[in-house]
Amino acid sequence: MTKVLVATVKPFAQAAVDSIKEVCEDAGYEFVLLEKYADQSDFVKAVEDVDALIIRSDKATKEVIDAAKNLKIIVRAGAGYDNIDLEAATAKNIVVMNTPGQNSNAVAELALGMMVYMARNKFNGTAGTELKNKKIGIHAFGHVGSLVGDIAKGFGMNVYAFDPFVAKEKIESMGAKAVDTEEELYSTCQYISLHIPANEHTKNSINYNLMSRMPKGATLLNTARKEVIDEDDLLRVFKDRDDFKYVSDIAPDCKADIENNYGDRCFFSPKKMGAQTSEANINAGIAAAEQIIRFIGKGDTTFKVN
Ligand code: 3PG
Repeated sequence: MTKVLVATVKPFAQAAVDSIKEVCEDAGYEFVLLEKYADQSDFVKAVEDVDALIIRSDKATKEVIDAAKNLKIIVRAGAGYDNIDLEAATAKNIVVMNTPGQNSNAVAELALGMMVYMARNKFNGTAGTELKNKKIGIHAFGHVGSLVGDIAKGFGMNVYAFDPFVAKEKIESMGAKAVDTEEELYSTCQYISLHIPANEHTKNSINYNLMSRMPKGATLLNTARKEVIDEDDLLRVFKDRDDFKYVSDIAPDCKADIENNYGDRCFFSPKKMGAQTSEANINAGIAAAEQIIRFIGKGDTTFKVN
């Protein structure tokens, strides 16, 4: 019997687990759950005899992949797959997929929520500022970025976007002003919201050159990945400018340094919360299970990333 393992250090909402189980069992598959595991070795052990794997930000390392003797498919229930060793998977002929778009609304809502929180001085009772009529620059206009643009328009913000992989006409048809370069985006917008993936081209790419050119009252918002920020440069900008704020759903390695010295101008979620809604868990979890069924049953490789 085809065996599907859901392995999540950070568990899905119970309703999502129940739905994934139902979808798998309706297809005649065995469903196995490993949640909140204490050690990576528990994950390595759990994959030994499974055919398919659903994960979130769990680390599907070479060790995990090599331990999985029957594994045919890994689906990352979410967008970013920088937690999966694609080379190791490909070497073993294992298909890797993500579920693009399924948890985007949750991330986009959190991004705007964090912006309000920072604009209102973390609700500390002092007079803050409003988002209305401010400029927001969306760095990468994919599923999440375009939704952030939609919600920001509801706040009366002026929306700008930079994305070399999306045609300017498409960006403009979705109501944002497309700019030609990263530099132009950062020079124009007081708020910047990051939606780039973490890969060899983007790691450390948000650097002093970009951050330092943001207009007065700059707020950099990161619901993407901590690795895209050059942290030495981030600290340098904090030191140079007393108006610069950084809010992130993924704490940087230099979190303590920033919190100790610039505590009023930063906020880091204790755990990555972007996709942590019941709706997002259900959407991404069911999509992952259905993608597995279509792949195993019909060889459908839609959303394959390796
Ligand atoms: C994603 O890449 O989909 C988001 O970062 C969500 O990650 P999570 O499933 O670990 O919350």
